Amino acid sequence: MIPAGSLLLSFLGFLALFGCGLDPALALRISDQVLDPSARQHLPPTQPLRSAVFALGSFWRSEAAFGCVPGVVRTSVGYAGGSKPNPEYRNLGDHAECVKVEYDPKIIQFKQLLDVFWASHDSRQVFGQGPDVGRQYRSIIFTNGTIEARLASFSKEREQAKSRHTIVTTEIQPLGIFYPAEPEHQKFELKRNKFLLQLMGNMPDEELISSSLAAKLNGYVAELCPPNIQKKIGVKVDEILKNGWPVLKGF
Ligand SMILES: *[C@@H]1O[C@H](CO)[C@@H](O)[C@H](O)[C@H]1NC(C)=O
Repeated sequence: MIPAGSLLLSFLGFLALFGCGLDPALALRISDQVLDPSARQHLPPTQPLRSAVFALGSFWRSEAAFGCVPGVVRTSVGYAGGSKPNPEYRNLGDHAECVKVEYDPKIIQFKQLLDVFWASHDSRQVFGQGPDVGRQYRSIIFTNGTIEARLASFSKEREQAKSRHTIVTTEIQPLGIFYPAEPEHQKFELKRNKFLLQLMGNMPDEELISSSLAAKLNGYVAELCPPNIQKKIGVKVDEILKNGWPVLKGF
């Protein structure tokens, strides 16, 4: 029989190997948690991260769209773009549903995040994405500083130039306050997959928010990872499923 810890280690080691940017120390930390849940603690940041906020429809999906992108370290969802203080899911006023992406600028730049943003939604649908209709689903690029504002407007012009028949509705605005959403909305796609949650040691919500692995698997469950990463995670998950979860059969 293969011990649960080694299965998990091989899974996490695999994620690290194929270039998800997973820190091996993180893998060890997670496996420790499985063996000893009291060992849970937050990792100190290993590099100065930058953050970017985008609105592109339902934040459940938006978070998944960025979670697997190489260089993205953490994702979380929240509300921004409006003026109502302390918005809530059922009462968000004039805010939009947003994803906050924390990324390693040595691996990915704001410019490439903009490419993911455009590729991940229909910026020409007015106040909505597919069946999700309403002001909270509008498309917004939030910027921090003049360089990002210029990159954003340049990329919007380029997007508009692809077709003049309809208008790109995306707003560009300086980021004001980002209000984190309620815990139940964080890593929403991943939470639909109890097996993967268990494999990660059933982390509490606050840890799911800061976990790189959770961000990636959240993208995987929604099938929104880049195809090569989606496939590699799928192969590994299938392998673990095939081997079966070890069962304690007695003493
Ligand atoms: C804007 O970027 C600077 C670094 O260039 C950072 O210190 C600051 O926290 C950022 N502001 C926001 C609102 O993200």
